[in-house]
Amino acid sequence: MGDSRSEKELQQIIARTEQFVKSELGNDPTGHDWWHIHRVVRTAERLAREEKADLFICTMAALLHDVADEKLNVSKEAGLQKVSDWLAALSLDDDERQHLMEIISTMSYNAGTNPPMRTPEGKVVQDADRLDAIGAIAIARTFLYAGWKGDPIHDPGLPPRDEMTAAEYRQGKSTAINHFHEKLLKLKERINTASARRIAEERHRYMQQYVEQFYKEWEGES
Ligand code: ADP
Ligand code: NI
Repeated sequence: MGDSRSEKELQQIIARTEQFVKSELGNDPTGHDWWHIHRVVRTAERLAREEKADLFICTMAALLHDVADEKLNVSKEAGLQKVSDWLAALSLDDDERQHLMEIISTMSYNAGTNPPMRTPEGKVVQDADRLDAIGAIAIARTFLYAGWKGDPIHDPGLPPRDEMTAAEYRQGKSTAINHFHEKLLKLKERINTASARRIAEERHRYMQQYVEQFYKEWEGES
């Protein structure tokens, strides 16, 4: 089926999926709102061109990647079922469905415990999602999320945690500033593709400078 579909049919599948995703996570307050998806799709498309990955698969995986997020569903399985039901309703090959499910079920950060992505499309979409967690927008998302969770911006009595389980990462008491050390400043080392690494380095430096300035102001040194 893959090659017999016209560009117009592919665009229709994408447009319908966009509507589905908007209705699923439109107002999510945890940093997984529609605009996060929009940015990840744009970045994935850019990386797909540079990395010569399949554009349609990258766009679809980027659109759907957070619909199954554990935070937004009763369970990870329930979330994945939602995605799989949606894909079943579209005119896709079984190969495409399987590939999309593989990407979506394995790309989450999961406290850094998941194995590397298998395909170029998986690498591209995971990089696009990670790039949205590095840089200026990432800083804003982190404070938004911390506010939603009830965490303070900073607390010198709560140092960043070095090693932690997925459950500790998700539930333990922490702060917005700690999240930079526990996750965001580590992401640069976990980027898969050369195209994304260049973008990550620039955004990483920006975030590092931000954190340094934050501590200076905290100590009254700036
Ligand atoms: P993933 O979808 O890769 O599992 P998360 O859902 O954990 O990623 O995080 C998405 C974004 O939400 C992060 O990049 C960060 O900006 C914000 N975030 C997640 N957890 C926290 C936290 N504990 N404190 C502050 N911000 C967080
Ligand atoms: Ni995401």
